Amino acid sequence: MSLLLTDIGELTTHTDEHGTLNDAAIVIEDGRVAWIGPADRAPAADDREALEGRAVLPGWVDSHTHLASMGDRAEEFVDRMAGRPYQAGGIVRTVEATRAADDHDLSTRTRALREEAFRGGTTTIEAKTGYGLDVETEQRLARVSAEHADIVTYLGAHVVPADADRRDYIDLVTGAMLDAVAPHATFIDVFCETGAFDVEESREILLAGQRAGLGLKVHGNQLGESGGVRLAVELGATSVDHCNHLSPQDIDALAGSTTVATILPACDLSTREPFAPARELVDAGATIAIASNCNPGSSFTTSMAFCVATAVLQQRLTFEEALWAATVGGATALGLDDSAGRITEGGPADLHALDAPSAKHLAYRPGVPLTHKVWKRGASTSP
Ligand code: NIG
Repeated sequence: MSLLLTDIGELTTHTDEHGTLNDAAIVIEDGRVAWIGPADRAPAADDREALEGRAVLPGWVDSHTHLASMGDRAEEFVDRMAGRPYQAGGIVRTVEATRAADDHDLSTRTRALREEAFRGGTTTIEAKTGYGLDVETEQRLARVSAEHADIVTYLGAHVVPADADRRDYIDLVTGAMLDAVAPHATFIDVFCETGAFDVEESREILLAGQRAGLGLKVHGNQLGESGGVRLAVELGATSVDHCNHLSPQDIDALAGSTTVATILPACDLSTREPFAPARELVDAGATIAIASNCNPGSSFTTSMAFCVATAVLQQRLTFEEALWAATVGGATALGLDDSAGRITEGGPADLHALDAPSAKHLAYRPGVPLTHKVWKRGASTSP
């Protein structure tokens, strides 16, 4: 079965061949994009759907989430809004709620967040472990994440549990826990920050993951100049995420590397940390991604549209830069840049149609639910 999507107002492809087209059409066949071009030259197809001038863009690629998690921390959020600073220590509250949940509840909640993200235009999503902090629960989180997300990241090194000896816990994270989780994961991540893991500990943990065949990610420079960004660059990590507190040297290091700097605008708002210096990173030549960081503690949203609007309105990215960072940038941060983030002939039909004539309306009309319809591998939500 083939489907012709026609009467597209503005089509953003992120490809050199097609760029941005107006009055465009796409043919979807077997979950893939079979043809892209002007609507008046579209080939025949088995079925036809007129989008009546709506914009179409690639589905969002959300490269940083903690979807598999339980509970909510609204009280902590209220305290933050009243001026209390964000602290890594709140993580243990989500750990308690997550450990207490059975597989069914954990899976139901993770699926619900995944579906919420999809309804908002997210067609590729990463999910981290990190709210188990014991072998059994970390493995459970990895299994549940693999059921609902496209890419799983092992974050046993989120914080040291209160009842654990620090050295013993690092040995567990790099030993039995790694062995249990690695078969389900693509990346290993570490929270390199005061209150979590220092640079030397983070290096040891990342190198153990690398030996187990995992790619590298770092939570770095979220609450201060933790050294996480430099470590990520030194080890050739695929991404370093947060990046709120960057020195000029950190920005230069990122610009001279292949490590993607992932910014998390909703988290910056929710934690009241200074926004990551997105404009300076792009101007220096660094590759950036935008992600939601969906988790109950520091950023309880799946809305990539909100993150894109914030990056434009508050972080001085151009609309095109923000859109690129939330699609191709996210794909690059997941090592998926050949299969996600672009609309290309032969590529997956991961598409997002808006109730607006141009993708610019995502920032121009912030907060308005503009998603009209989403397709992942050619399968759609209802309008
Ligand atoms: O990416 N910074 C570390 N980890 C998560 C959330 C932690 C939390 O539960 O507070 C984050 O923000």
